[in-house]
Amino acid sequence: MESKSVMDKKIEDLLSQLTLEEKLGMIHGDGLFCTKGVERLDIPPLKMSDGPMGVRNEFEKDKWIAVGNSDDYVTYLPSNSALSSTWNRELAYRMGQVLGEEARGRGKDVILAPGINIKRSPLCGRNFEYMSEDPYLTKEEAVPLIQGIQESDVAACVKHFALNNQETERLWVDVEIGERPLREIYLPAFYDAVKRGGAYSLMGAYNKVRGEHCCQSHYLLDEILREEWKYDGTVISDWGAVHDTAEAAKTSLDIEMSVTDNFDEYCLANPLYQEIQEGRIAKSFIDSKVRRILRMMERLHMLGGERKSGCYHTPGHRQTALETARESIVLLKNEDQRLPLQRKNIKKLLVIGDNGERIHSNGGGSAEIKALYEISPLLGLKSMLGGNTEIKYVRGYCPDTKEEPGEVNWQEASLNAGNGTKDNLAKDSALQEKRNKLRKEAVEAASEYEEVLFIGGLNHDYDVEGYDREDMILPYGQDEVIRQVLKANPNTVVILSAGAPVEMKSWVNEAKALVWNWYAGMEGGTALAEVLLGEVNPSGRLPETFPKTHLDCPATRLGEFPGKEKVCYREGIYVGYRYYDTFEIEPQFCFGYGLSYTEFTCGNLEISDNSSAFPVSVSLDVKNTGEKSGKEVVQLYVRCLEPKEERPYQELKGYEKVLLDPGEEKRICFLLDESSFHYYDEKQGDFCIEPGRYEICIGKSSRDICQKKEINIVI
Ligand code: BGC
Repeated sequence: MESKSVMDKKIEDLLSQLTLEEKLGMIHGDGLFCTKGVERLDIPPLKMSDGPMGVRNEFEKDKWIAVGNSDDYVTYLPSNSALSSTWNRELAYRMGQVLGEEARGRGKDVILAPGINIKRSPLCGRNFEYMSEDPYLTKEEAVPLIQGIQESDVAACVKHFALNNQETERLWVDVEIGERPLREIYLPAFYDAVKRGGAYSLMGAYNKVRGEHCCQSHYLLDEILREEWKYDGTVISDWGAVHDTAEAAKTSLDIEMSVTDNFDEYCLANPLYQEIQEGRIAKSFIDSKVRRILRMMERLHMLGGERKSGCYHTPGHRQTALETARESIVLLKNEDQRLPLQRKNIKKLLVIGDNGERIHSNGGGSAEIKALYEISPLLGLKSMLGGNTEIKYVRGYCPDTKEEPGEVNWQEASLNAGNGTKDNLAKDSALQEKRNKLRKEAVEAASEYEEVLFIGGLNHDYDVEGYDREDMILPYGQDEVIRQVLKANPNTVVILSAGAPVEMKSWVNEAKALVWNWYAGMEGGTALAEVLLGEVNPSGRLPETFPKTHLDCPATRLGEFPGKEKVCYREGIYVGYRYYDTFEIEPQFCFGYGLSYTEFTCGNLEISDNSSAFPVSVSLDVKNTGEKSGKEVVQLYVRCLEPKEERPYQELKGYEKVLLDPGEEKRICFLLDESSFHYYDEKQGDFCIEPGRYEICIGKSSRDICQKKEINIVI
């Protein structure tokens, strides 16, 4: 590794040779996904690509038109919501390695991932791209993911910095937020992404914060990111997020990207040149930006030296996609041990539901993928069960008929269309009639089959960029289909694929078995079949609370989701389980919840007695008392018992995923540093620890605490 001073010297040397025009070429898009290089100095253009579930297909340089060759098929990875559902840091790291190798293999320098915004409301259209409602879980999964990506000489571009928690009016909505929730809930994952993860770049968000657009925000970019956190990486704007030349030039944003092809007219192109020529903006602002870009290029070995070449769509990558998918599936209900299905006894199987055979990889917005292949649940089941099982598929319900896409790519139109309202999709009587027919056919078939699977949920008409859902109700009349199918055949297994929770209250008590499946990547159908048939023991745990209805969500209760011009985060620190657990609102399924085909117990909780010294060490035994091998996620929550300041009921501060054979027992250990006990004190403008009694709670979920012990923190 090159020493800092050698690197700095090289960068200063290059900087001194660059003309103003050349520098400006480096700080704004010269194509939809690239900047200008400087050939005479061997500075290449910077090539970027979406996104979080795999490297996006190739577009023409200046048009939202797919090149359309056959050489950009890639590995389709599980979404971030699926990844965080594994609670497995190792898989996050491996998924990062895949993303990095594939990006590099496709000749990219920056991969526009991961998305790590906190899930403030279950209705946000991009929640499927994000990880969790909890900052600790988000950062624990994001850090190894970033490290994995960057091993391949590719920069992760962590997005969207910051407070991009809704799609409605995403370009203009102004977030008003107190300092404490900002520091405790919304910033920690970004902090760790740059500090521990070493992310080479960040993407500034579309929205405003306290009146300033994020990509021009002195507070977020200059004060917090650069001065406090000492971040020396590159900040890239979201596509079309820069609005003012002087503001963007003077803040420490580095690269302006957008969705239109008038590259010379971007704020940081000719308009900035003009401002500089007329003496209104100092050249030193531009030098700082170019310096940071060159630094990133040097870190990626773009300015000479040996650079990794990467590779894509390899068998190893597909294996990682499969293993991640397996561990992301969450078993939510399993009465009478309905699952796993007894493979040998299944002569006839009925699969109902549009998601049974739907391909999801090609949707969702900028996270869309040109997947090498995608195994649907139906394909996964058929290929595992083989010819001795007759599998019948009926659709059961159908999505609204969608208008054919026009000539303008949605992304190009997004600067005008980001108002979060959807076209009124057809609700005509012909569609209702079609749905009635499909439902009737499914219900009749369900009564004739012994084994019935309903596979529904959402799709990328709902889990999508640019729009938020209005409620959590399953679309396309699915509730009625599920209710009637369960009546016709009470043994029906309900499987839902979606990027965010849905209402289940009208049928959930009737369903004996319920499986949650996210968007699980190219091998999602294989993984689902393996779980249903017992080849794989499910080990996913919910990375977010599934409330009964969106009306229970604090942001909605306060009338603060979605904001139009302004949104005030009045719920403060009470996001997700911090709210539901503190105010005793019973969710449908709580944070951290998930079942297994085996049973686990925890015991012998011990805490190091020297409570005035950090880290505090916590250890316990975990045992598989059932009959199948399986993975348990041991979760550690910290609770302040006599807070003088407002505190949530408890907070996740540790977790470990352990594989145990039947009868096997392992001792696991957690080390808790200051951050496990601290809170942000607005008066002091810093994180503080209250001395006093705390409870260390070990749980299978936030609401199933199996061991706890008190500790006295002396400061
Ligand atoms: C999205 C970003 C994405 C960018 C480039 C924007 O619409 O918000 O997440 O990386 O487009 O496609």
